[in-house]
Amino acid sequence: MKKSDVIRAVFHSLLQEAPNKVWQPQHEKGLGFAPTNIALCKYWGKRDIELNLPMTSSLSIALPDKGALTSVSLHDQSYDRIILNDQEVVRDSAFAVRTSQFLDLFRPQKTGYLQIDIKMNIPVAAGLASSACGFASLVSALNDLFDWKLKKQSLSILARLGSGSAARSFWNGFVEWYAGVRPDGMDSFGEPLAFEWPELCVGILTMSEVEKPISSREAMQRTVNSSLLYGSWPKKVAQDLAILKQAMQVTNFPLLGGTAESNALTMHATMLSSWPPVCYFMPETIAAMHKIWKSRKEGLELYFTQDAGPNLKLLFLEQDKEQVQQLFPSVDIVKVFE
Ligand code: PMV
Repeated sequence: MKKSDVIRAVFHSLLQEAPNKVWQPQHEKGLGFAPTNIALCKYWGKRDIELNLPMTSSLSIALPDKGALTSVSLHDQSYDRIILNDQEVVRDSAFAVRTSQFLDLFRPQKTGYLQIDIKMNIPVAAGLASSACGFASLVSALNDLFDWKLKKQSLSILARLGSGSAARSFWNGFVEWYAGVRPDGMDSFGEPLAFEWPELCVGILTMSEVEKPISSREAMQRTVNSSLLYGSWPKKVAQDLAILKQAMQVTNFPLLGGTAESNALTMHATMLSSWPPVCYFMPETIAAMHKIWKSRKEGLELYFTQDAGPNLKLLFLEQDKEQVQQLFPSVDIVKVFE
């Protein structure tokens, strides 16, 4: 199955009614914001590499005021001009090529190039889901510019073609992304979960803003292809998803935090057991983990999760905010339900 088949399926009714409308601006500019999301139960491994279809479902929380704001407009050059945080992106950089190839899926051949202005208030490609909010905001901005009027479920499917975890970046709060079973992935999209947890906080602990040495895409494939431990990952996910939902239902924070931490560590264990090994830990990452475990032993309800990068995301309740700040003075605290 090809990405273009999915695009055709998503735009099916629009293509019948008004075939030109897919790439015909209805305003001068299109605007889209998407929050970044942090997975409590991770997406790791694809059942379809081309369509970014995951082996398992996953569950995340959004950081409402951290993410990407993207504006798009048509321009008359024969290339896409991308501006990231007020700096023009080099045309043949990996970032620009990936973005343009994604846009090529939608537009008529060799026409309809865009000026794309992205503003992100999180570090790019350092394991803080910059590609998730980047692709989600781009798809929302296109939906606005071309007035597609697509539902969030369809936008989620489109953004997934750019980056898997982008499927979860269309909502605030808790979001589940379904693995689905269909080969075309039309049943693999994000959906918000109706739980709120006003006291829940996430602390971003940035140890490095340097781009990761190996992309999550490559690391995932290597894990799936070479780690013997990967066989137990789907079982771990099924178990953790059920426990996380139960923890939300009964507002049991240690259960939520502990399950998220254990899920992240299991994901990293599958990477460590790949060959060549994939290791996103830095000495500072490990030191921070020990600090967290020590304070937990002393009674602080503090947990962490980690993605494809050295930085940790701390999970705690608002009542412990000051203690967390004392422990990690550089932490950037976000309230999940503002
Ligand atoms: O969507 P990608 O290709 O950037 O992969 C994201 C992978 C993790 O961040 C490690 C896990 C997740 O579920 O977000």
